[in-house]
Amino acid sequence: MIRSNGTKRVVLQELMLAEGYPAAGELIGEKSGVSRQSVWKAVEGLRDDGYGIRSIPHKGYLLEELSPNDLDPTMLENILYDCPWGHPVLYWPSLASTQEPLKEMARQNAPEGAVITADEQTRGRGRLGRNWESPPGGGLYFSLLMRPRISPGNIQLVSLAAAMAVWESILELFNISCDLKWPNDILFGEAKLCGILTETASEPGKVHYAVTGIGLNANVDLRLTGSSARTASLIAITGKPVHRGRILSAIVKKLHHFVSALENPEGGRKLIEDYTKRCTTLGRKVRVVQETEDIFGKAVSLDERGALVVESGEGRRVFAAADIVHLRQNQ
Ligand code: BTN
Repeated sequence: MIRSNGTKRVVLQELMLAEGYPAAGELIGEKSGVSRQSVWKAVEGLRDDGYGIRSIPHKGYLLEELSPNDLDPTMLENILYDCPWGHPVLYWPSLASTQEPLKEMARQNAPEGAVITADEQTRGRGRLGRNWESPPGGGLYFSLLMRPRISPGNIQLVSLAAAMAVWESILELFNISCDLKWPNDILFGEAKLCGILTETASEPGKVHYAVTGIGLNANVDLRLTGSSARTASLIAITGKPVHRGRILSAIVKKLHHFVSALENPEGGRKLIEDYTKRCTTLGRKVRVVQETEDIFGKAVSLDERGALVVESGEGRRVFAAADIVHLRQNQ
């Protein structure tokens, strides 16, 4: 596992601020309140993480190359420097799933905003007990720990907020306008680009934690994974590899904004309003997959808790959580 530490983060920040010039170890130490020896140790640590840093006698350290790992936690914590979330970021080259270790950390009182990310998941999990294919090098897989100060009955709003955070990040970073499929799939056309899994622990009146896992097909080569035509990836849409760390940090910043806003009712109303505009499920014929029998109807709106309202032959039904199939108009 690779993790950042405070000294590594500030040393990297100073080296980046020097923009192509050497930064003196003594000055970095003074600015960051650590000894020259600690600066040197941090530089060694950064080199181990893949950063190209040259020592220039009598001048200092010159940052020549960033880490080839686009999920390097020191870099991520630097980008998230002014965001209360994203501290710490923990990175593993391979994990079974990013969800379980973060839930364990949540139970051990880890701080809100902690992130776990991995290059590969060997047992990635999707919603409703499904698998989430997580080959190395291609996808963005991460989980974020939140402790939202909202009533447990409103927890669906956190999932909708996550979908909105992904939607906005993709629009801002790549100028790609996606659609949202209720409750939290991000579609490009009809193909799935990103899935979200939120797992929570609560007691009456209080949410202990929500761990939201985001799986985004960033640089996944869909020809190699044998994925169906109903799967999209950013590399296929943009035609070039994308930087997963930039996407992760944009999503974390936006989620912090949306979830903090949920603490007052106006924030919830605004979220539902924004989500509704981007939700392609609304106004469509849908099949709601249920354990006993499927329900067919038209998805008409979301209620104030983010549940889906469906008009069927037997009147209006409200679904807090369900698997939805979009139907063609003639189905
Ligand atoms: C879905 O659409 O079914 C949800 C997919 C969620 C996948 C992410 S990847 C990061 C986190 N770790 C997991 O094992 N699953 C979630």
